[in-house]
Amino acid sequence: PKVSLTGIKPTGEPHLGNYIGAIRPSLELTETYESIYFIADYHALTSIRDGAELARYTRSVAATWITLGLDPAKTIFYRQSDVPEIFELSWVLSCVTAKGLMNRAHAYKAARDRNVENGVKDLDAGINMGLFNYPVLMAVDILIMNTDVVPVGLDQSQHVEYTADIAGTFNHLYGGDFTLTVPTGIYPAGVSAKSLPGTDGRKMSKSYRNTIALFAPEKQLRKLVRGIVSDSTPVDEPKDPDTSAAFALYENFAAAEAVKDMRARLEAGGTGWGELKNTLFETLNDWLSPLRERYDALVAPGSELDAILADGAERARERARPVLAGVRHAVGITTG
Ligand code: TYM
Repeated sequence: PKVSLTGIKPTGEPHLGNYIGAIRPSLELTETYESIYFIADYHALTSIRDGAELARYTRSVAATWITLGLDPAKTIFYRQSDVPEIFELSWVLSCVTAKGLMNRAHAYKAARDRNVENGVKDLDAGINMGLFNYPVLMAVDILIMNTDVVPVGLDQSQHVEYTADIAGTFNHLYGGDFTLTVPTGIYPAGVSAKSLPGTDGRKMSKSYRNTIALFAPEKQLRKLVRGIVSDSTPVDEPKDPDTSAAFALYENFAAAEAVKDMRARLEAGGTGWGELKNTLFETLNDWLSPLRERYDALVAPGSELDAILADGAERARERARPVLAGVRHAVGITTG
């Protein structure tokens, strides 16, 4: 079978956007693909400076995925840091990657643009080499597992294109009997085609602090949902649901019939944003509250999570070794 692979960076509590962009699609693909999913903990080091925090978020991401249905018997599930082959291949692929390609990477460019906005003269100020090399490490995550498809949110499309580009370069330079598989991205469609908005209406993102964590305690979930931005259209007046972040969330998590009904009521007038948010909260809470106990048990230190990840690491390394060996042989790191 073809291989589906994706990763989540433990830079915060996993949130509704991660669910729509990666967790739900990745779980759907386990039916028809060989699935390989992981926690990109070394990627998180580009921004997290508190070790205890990184360890905690790593557990949250792992516990979230399993609670929401990942079956470790059917999926290779591991921490990136447990697969040293990734870091060895990372050097090799960085040697065939043009620096200019990295110069054009969105995250790197955005960090430089922030320096321009803030009047900082050195445009690379505050940017570490990890951030600069980030796309190469991500390409390795994907290529070392012979991945065919990568289910991710739209914000990762450049990274997937870079991966295909890097694989193409390697194959062009060294391709003979051994080649790297060129992957394609799988992006959410339909109402989920756009990035999911956060509580301030911008894309839901850990770096904007506008996320709604999947396993936030009920009280906090209610508060977060109540706090979603909305305009001041009076309750009686007709509203445009397509301008509302709360409605975009509702569309993604409620049943189609309920969404249709809510749309009609908002457009007719008489239904306020407050009512929409209450209904959104109920919808999310009805889904998540039966799962909280399982999540809490998994995330607690000493849970079965450790054994699951240790087993996943073994299986991931088994998959990675022959690809790394093929690359080493192709480039001449061999005695034969
Ligand atoms: P990360 O940790 O930022 O996000 C994890 C996944 O969630 C998706 N996502 C969203 N989808 C829809 N709406 C949103 N508001 C939203 N926010 C996040 C992301 O698109 C992503 O699919 N570089 C990756 C991690 C990574 C990776 C990989 C992914 C490292 N190596 C190899 C795939 C394959 C990242 O930072 O994702």
